Amino acid sequence: MSLARVPKNGKVAVLGGGISGLSFAYFLSKLRPDVKIDLYEKSGRVGGAINSQTLHSQDSDILLEKGPRTLRGVSNGTLLIVDILKALKKENVIQVIPKNSPANKKYLLNQSNELVQVPDGIRTFSSFLSKSGIFTPELVFGILREPFRKGVKDGRDESIEEFFTRRFGNTVLTDKVLSAIMHGIYAGDTAKLSVNTILPGLKDTETKSGSVIRGMFSKLWTSKKKKTESKGAGSAENKSEFPESLVQYEQIISPSANLSALSEQLKQFPMIKLQGGLQQLPQTIFEELKKSPNFNVNFDSHITEVDPIVGKVTSSAHGKQSVLEYDHINSTIDSKALASVLPEGSTALNEFKSALSTLEFASIFLVNAYSKSGCLIPKGKQGFGFLSPKFTKKIDSNPNALLGIIFDSDVEKHAKYLISNSGEAPDSGYSKITLMIGGHYYNQFQIPSNSRNLKIVKKILAEILQLKVDNYNLIIRDEALISDKTLPSLGPNDILISYNLYEDCIPQYNVGYGLNKKRVCDSLKELDCKMSIGGTSFGSGIGVPDCVVNGLENALNVK
Ligand SMILES: Cc1cc2nc3c(=O)[nH]c(=O)nc-3n(C[C@H](O)[C@H](O)[C@H](O)COP(=O)(O)OP(=O)(O)OC[C@H]3O[C@@H](n4cnc5c(N)ncnc54)[C@H](O)[C@@H]3O)c2cc1C
Ligand SMILES: *[C@@H]1O[C@H](CO)[C@@H](O)[C@H](O)[C@H]1NC(C)=O
Ligand SMILES: *[C@@H]1O[C@H](CO)[C@@H](O)[C@H](O)[C@H]1NC(C)=O
Ligand SMILES: *[C@@H]1O[C@H](CO)[C@@H](O)[C@H](O)[C@H]1NC(C)=O
Ligand SMILES: *[C@@H]1O[C@H](CO)[C@@H](O)[C@H](O)[C@H]1NC(C)=O
Ligand SMILES: *[C@@H]1O[C@H](CO)[C@@H](O)[C@H](O)[C@H]1NC(C)=O
Repeated sequence: MSLARVPKNGKVAVLGGGISGLSFAYFLSKLRPDVKIDLYEKSGRVGGAINSQTLHSQDSDILLEKGPRTLRGVSNGTLLIVDILKALKKENVIQVIPKNSPANKKYLLNQSNELVQVPDGIRTFSSFLSKSGIFTPELVFGILREPFRKGVKDGRDESIEEFFTRRFGNTVLTDKVLSAIMHGIYAGDTAKLSVNTILPGLKDTETKSGSVIRGMFSKLWTSKKKKTESKGAGSAENKSEFPESLVQYEQIISPSANLSALSEQLKQFPMIKLQGGLQQLPQTIFEELKKSPNFNVNFDSHITEVDPIVGKVTSSAHGKQSVLEYDHINSTIDSKALASVLPEGSTALNEFKSALSTLEFASIFLVNAYSKSGCLIPKGKQGFGFLSPKFTKKIDSNPNALLGIIFDSDVEKHAKYLISNSGEAPDSGYSKITLMIGGHYYNQFQIPSNSRNLKIVKKILAEILQLKVDNYNLIIRDEALISDKTLPSLGPNDILISYNLYEDCIPQYNVGYGLNKKRVCDSLKELDCKMSIGGTSFGSGIGVPDCVVNGLENALNVK
């Protein structure tokens, strides 16, 4: 994307106060303290999808994550996040899940509604093969034949399902395993998600070796050879393992970061969370930004028009309209929202608008459940939680449209502080889970009414978690409608159910996404305008750490 030129003491508008907008503003304020930054946010809070809410009952506070809750331990973005929290004196809230922790156990649902552990060793591997339902003659023959099937080299995009059908002759692996993983990350459908965008490694392997399996073996072979060779030669290479943006971050923004040492340390931890909720991250960055006289935030401020050519932002807050001009506009709002505020204009502008509007989104019915007893976690199935696959191509093979359930209390109970012994361990009796329902299924049929969805929730609790729902008193809250965050004190037979419907909350990187992203970038370049875009729609990934790296890269691009 084009480099932004902002003159000395220039003005930059940031659209959206989620983690993308905040991290861009944070890095920019470090790199260019002279620049005046206006942040526009339509709600009354920062964080966007990151949304930790606390309900207060007489004897305890209950933390409910309404969006993301954990971050991948070893990613470039997580390094930045940990270093930012350290720099802002919030390192005490960083918690990690060690590799061997019970909270790392993950499960898949099988078609008899049983949880099957995802393999983490030989023993669990063989049991996974038999219980997940993938060990079929169809799959075995498919794998044996794959090396002899002709490879396609034209690089044309196709869905994950089409790719597997072409290579393996069936969709056993995508139906029963991969579809579950895609439910967990994208709330998306393997019949639609783009293999080129989401699993580029698989496609590359086919292009280079003519076969996925042959390619995997030759990779194993060369990496083994390299290892023994480099041992002999006594490590000569010393190339940075980090992208250029992180190298610059360490040089310019945080000289004491020591990212290599931090990276070594974080490698032991597949997962990271924050005590008090992920909201601590946007909140901490926001508090820091507010200290700068050059930073200004506009809450409850709806963008109604953006003119990227002249750099004009029109917004309305509390019935009052404001029009301001900027040297640069950085938009992190979703592509649909952005397309809707762009004016009609030149061919390039219309092309940009139309490319932005082709991206599909998925909605989620999100339910947090809490009990003072351990009843919500199924017996003997401690862990991170489970994901539900599609099972078969038929839409009604997952009639509840369940994507997965996260066992929040197991993760909380097994989290350790990164900085030794700050804070106390949580009490052990409670259980807390999050159900994610809908996703791509809601694009295939109408979103059920809330009351219908609550019936589905009860069914899932009873049939999958084996909970005798009738023995419990359910306290149900439509969280978007109830502003009073206090609860009556909960008894042992009470289960709190707090739900929200998040419409169009996750972009779908479906077939054609790559070409479409190119259209967006090309038309933006041709416009040669004062706007750049970030966020998850056309940024560099879907997770919180991706958004932070993206924000850094964009800020480094501002000259
Ligand atoms: C249910 C759920 C679970 C997730 N779990 C994880 C997880 O476990 N780990 C992980 O890494 N990632 C997870 N993610 C993804 C993660 O939430 C996103 O990557 C990240 O929060 C996106 O941040 P963002 O700033 O790009 O967008 P957002 O957070 O959506 O921020 C955009 C902001 O723009 C504002 N806005 C929109 N339109 C306008 C307008 N017209 N005018 C003014 N303001 C506007 C919005 O109010 C919002 O605050 C999850 C996402 C969801 C939905
Ligand atoms: C970090 O970025 C580098 C360079 O872009 C990349 O090769 C590496 O895979 C990334 N690391 C992780 C853990 O994502
Ligand atoms: C699901 O798992 C259970 C127990 O782990 C097993 O008894 C059952 O046969 C499995 N179902 C299928 C369809 O594989
Ligand atoms: C390797 O790293 C060291 C220390 O950071 C540096 O001095 C040296 O120049 C590097 N070597 C190469 C070949 O980049
Ligand atoms: C980073 O930390 C490691 C391990 O603690 C140390 O050996 C190294 O010298 C540090 N590097 C810098 C540049 O401070
Ligand atoms: C604006 O921010 C987004 C995401 O944070 C980024 O992708 C884009 O490059 C930024 N634009 C500029 C000019 O920095």
